[in-house]
Amino acid sequence: MKVWLLLGLLLVHEALEDVAGQQPPKNKRPKEQGDNRIKPTNKKAKPKIPKGKDRDSADTTPKNPSIMVQAMDSGRFQKPAATMSLTAGQTVELRCKGSKVEWSYPSYLDAFKDSRLSLKQNERYGQLTLVNSTSADTGEFSCWGQLCNGYICRRDESRMGSTYIFFTEKGELFVPSPSYFDVVYLNLDRQAVVPCRVTVLSAKVTLHREFPAKEIPVNGTDIVYDMKRGFVYLQPHSDHQGVVYCKAEAGGKSQISVKYQLLYVEVPSGPPSTTILASSNKVNGGDDISVLCTVLGEPDVEVEFRWIFPGQKDERPVAIQDTWRLINRGLGHTTRISQSVITIEDFETIDAGYYICTAQNLRGQTTVATTVEFS
Ligand SMILES: *[C@@H]1O[C@H](CO)[C@@H](O)[C@H](O)[C@H]1NC(C)=O
Ligand SMILES: *[C@@H]1O[C@H](CO)[C@@H](O)[C@H](O)[C@H]1NC(C)=O
Repeated sequence: MKVWLLLGLLLVHEALEDVAGQQPPKNKRPKEQGDNRIKPTNKKAKPKIPKGKDRDSADTTPKNPSIMVQAMDSGRFQKPAATMSLTAGQTVELRCKGSKVEWSYPSYLDAFKDSRLSLKQNERYGQLTLVNSTSADTGEFSCWGQLCNGYICRRDESRMGSTYIFFTEKGELFVPSPSYFDVVYLNLDRQAVVPCRVTVLSAKVTLHREFPAKEIPVNGTDIVYDMKRGFVYLQPHSDHQGVVYCKAEAGGKSQISVKYQLLYVEVPSGPPSTTILASSNKVNGGDDISVLCTVLGEPDVEVEFRWIFPGQKDERPVAIQDTWRLINRGLGHTTRISQSVITIEDFETIDAGYYICTAQNLRGQTTVATTVEFS
């Protein structure tokens, strides 16, 4: 009964769920491909070489020479700098030496299965080509060779290459986000990132709280700004909760980012903590029953459910529905409630016995069971 009671209480918090419990609206393409005012002319790509020790000094210079080169319009090749700035609309071609080259590139390009990106493996080099680039493509492009032993391959740490490319686009100081509102979870034991990345290397970026409206001081000990990640909270704390946004200034223009809701999370990390409850454990033939399996856990940890039930071997038709939502447990603590319900209509002999629910997350699995018998 406790679970039902708890669920009743949770309804009170419906309002917060509306904000935080839903997936961010998907696929709001920040820009149509045809929108680029800057045509991919034959202008030479001018990699900007960061001078001396600036913000990029954190880049560790690899011991081994990079295997990456950038194909220039002139037909020549040149080693890309650790960071470079290109005008959006340009075509980028990167090549990496090796007969089995793997690539990684901004996840945005994957998310939209973008036809602008092509990867090709030639006999002696791998080739990545990105056409009609946009500011949303800003990010790290890297490649590495593989060491194979039969069919088993692993990354060859001595043969890698990477470059971080800023695609500068008029009117876009921030790398566009696919959603207009993002949730950032704060955990005591790991860094949290407000992912407002800029498209202009020289932009000055500040962090702001919405209520009460004020700039959040970033002094390098508690919160730092990393051009390639955003604002990093080194030691997240419940005091950091609230709605924040970033502001960027460059070339006399300023722009604000999407808003980020920071939510503090306090749930132990581990296999899911699972409970099971049948609508009734003693039933009459012909009754409808349901068995509910519930997991309370961290907001960003997904849970998968599997069921074993008596009628399974006879392929008895059942309905299984999985759902999840976020709940506010007071004092600003947010929990994800994941549930799976198995429903049996018209209970018969083959349905009597053990109902077993296994809930699994990345850290392990928990199995719980209950019985349903004829009364
Ligand atoms: C790139 O842009 C050109 C001109 O707008 C367009 O014709 C072409 O289809 C685009 N290519 C891809 C792969 O999106
Ligand atoms: C930086 O900010 C944190 C939190 O606001 C504060 O505790 C710390 O003393 C500050 N450090 C410096 C060097 O100002």
